[in-house]
Amino acid sequence: MTFAHITGWGMSVPETILTNDDLSKMVETNDEWIRDRTGIRERHIVRGGQTTASLAVEASLKALQRANLHPADIDLIICSTSTPEHIFPATACLVQDRIGATKAGAFDLSAACTGFIFAVNMAAQSIRSGAIQNALVIGSETLSRFVDWHDRGTCILFGDGAGAFVLQASDMPGGILSAVMHSDGSGGDSLIIQGGGSKHPTTEATVQAGKHFIEMDGNEVFRFATRVMAQATRETLEIVGIQLDDIKWIIPHQANIRIIAAAARGLKLPMDRFIVNLDRYGNTSTASIPIATVEAAEDGRLQPGDRIVLVGFGAGLTWGALAAEWTGPLPSERKVYPRRYRLWARIRSILLRVVRFIEGAIWGRGS
Ligand code: COA
Repeated sequence: MTFAHITGWGMSVPETILTNDDLSKMVETNDEWIRDRTGIRERHIVRGGQTTASLAVEASLKALQRANLHPADIDLIICSTSTPEHIFPATACLVQDRIGATKAGAFDLSAACTGFIFAVNMAAQSIRSGAIQNALVIGSETLSRFVDWHDRGTCILFGDGAGAFVLQASDMPGGILSAVMHSDGSGGDSLIIQGGGSKHPTTEATVQAGKHFIEMDGNEVFRFATRVMAQATRETLEIVGIQLDDIKWIIPHQANIRIIAAAARGLKLPMDRFIVNLDRYGNTSTASIPIATVEAAEDGRLQPGDRIVLVGFGAGLTWGALAAEWTGPLPSERKVYPRRYRLWARIRSILLRVVRFIEGAIWGRGS
């Protein structure tokens, strides 16, 4: 029997920090209100050339380094994001090219803040079926590029960042144990970017109407979130027959400390069983769960053998949870340095573009 283990992890956040005091100079708000109502103190924001793909590449290289896995050994890359570089090509393909994952199929997954759970589940299923050996799963967002910085109802919440896991096949029991995925499209309007898709293609009018910004009914999303977090956690544990007491850490989507507290009450667990870092990053959407997991793994709170639940909710509406036994890198004889392949990946990418240009010159363009 094949199991899917989390063997590598990495994260990347931009250096630029936006504090609540900074925000109070931009909209009518203040540090006390934001901390009190959300728990957020500051968030990281991309600047200049930083994008969803550049954050994803950084997080991925760290995850590959930790797993000691050569980029060319990856079979599948799933990038969960709601803020892709383009409608197409997929951000996952840009990552594939930049890290030199020459063998990997790559696609994006759109399930908003729940996306990372869905993506890990899809990758784990592919591994367990025997179809693939190694997967790279990324959650990456640059929500700051889609936020209306005049809307105090949303701009205080979101931040940018990326987290990545490497998943690998092994006959050793453990790894991803169970998952549940849920959706309710009837609530789609409560958290939405209206413009830029096929319903409202970008025009001067859509931009003037602000349809390219995040729109949210905060109270409705809040009510939904507090309902589903505990429920999804229980469901995924039921599937695998594990008791809550056997779970070392619950790693929730980092949207609002009051939502996490409601989940804790619903599960009758103390808050110190939850990994929380939203005070420093805000809501980084699909990146929030992997970033929180990476921090816990790096500072030693998360140890091999620990059982964890990842649980999230978001636009769609979507929600889900995943139970796992933390593994860590698989034993390996050779030492791999994924960063070194970045230069080769760059050269390879340029060569492929040159070949395509020459082909175009020989065969003619568009004829
Ligand atoms: N600063 C100061 N005051 C603010 C404010 C801000 N940034 N935003 C709203 N207010 C005011 C409101 O205008 C309102 O004032 P009023 O009573 O005079 O009308 C008051 O604060 C309460 O507003 P309300 O919207 O009821 O606040 P809240 O406690 O529900 O908090 C959210 C608002 C957005 C923080 C909260 O609803 C939330 O976190 N929702 C979930 C959002 C989420 O997680 N989205 C992502 C999902 S992945």
